Amino acid sequence: MENQENLTQQVVSMPRIGDKAPEFKAVTTQGDINFPADYKGNWVILFSHPADFTPVCTSEFMTFASLEKQFNQANCKLVGLSVDGLYSHIAWLRTIKEKIEYKGMKDIEVNFPLIEDITMNVAKKYGMIMPGESSTKAVRAVFVIDPKGIIRTIIYYPLSLGRNFDELYRVVIALQTADEFNVATPADWRPGDEVIVPTAGSCGVAKERMENQDENTHCYDWFFCTKKIDKETVLNTIIKK
Ligand code: BEZ
Repeated sequence: MENQENLTQQVVSMPRIGDKAPEFKAVTTQGDINFPADYKGNWVILFSHPADFTPVCTSEFMTFASLEKQFNQANCKLVGLSVDGLYSHIAWLRTIKEKIEYKGMKDIEVNFPLIEDITMNVAKKYGMIMPGESSTKAVRAVFVIDPKGIIRTIIYYPLSLGRNFDELYRVVIALQTADEFNVATPADWRPGDEVIVPTAGSCGVAKERMENQDENTHCYDWFFCTKKIDKETVLNTIIKK
């Protein structure tokens, strides 16, 4: 009972959206990192996977590595973590490169850092251990962190469910669009779709805005106005070639 309570206490640290990303120093497949300080000025996806040499994780790593350039062009770096050791990480990534051909991906080199976290220090700090799912493996957590080191999105998946990478990329682009253009993004938004303009502060202002809509703005009601930002404008602002 006491052990269960200790374990629960160790894993209840759950960073929340809007919090500063918890700091840590760690050893990775690309050398030591000091997180999030080393990533100041970049967006980062910090993600955990349950274990090296497992199939869902392998499919995810190959997909992440194939998309790394695309994420980097959106000023977003990738950092992986599991509670395995460095030599396991190195052996697994070598196996992926040398042996695995999957869905047209082959000879895949993982160039982003993979953190070793045998002590589970980082996994516990970030609430990646969910004892109901596993007390010895991290779940598939995704933390999207902005250039100021603030957590902007958190997504969790269970052990058996591989992540949707279209969605992860969409999240990064949507968050940057919200920041750059001072807008929000509606359900299923993709670049080129209409965006939501901030709700006017008072009913009078909202009514005035509804009555004076410009050709670019459309109000469905006083609390729900959208405007167009074309795809090129969004992508030219965010994507660095
Ligand atoms: C996998 O990546 O395939 C996996 C890892 C841990 C538990 C279940 C599946």
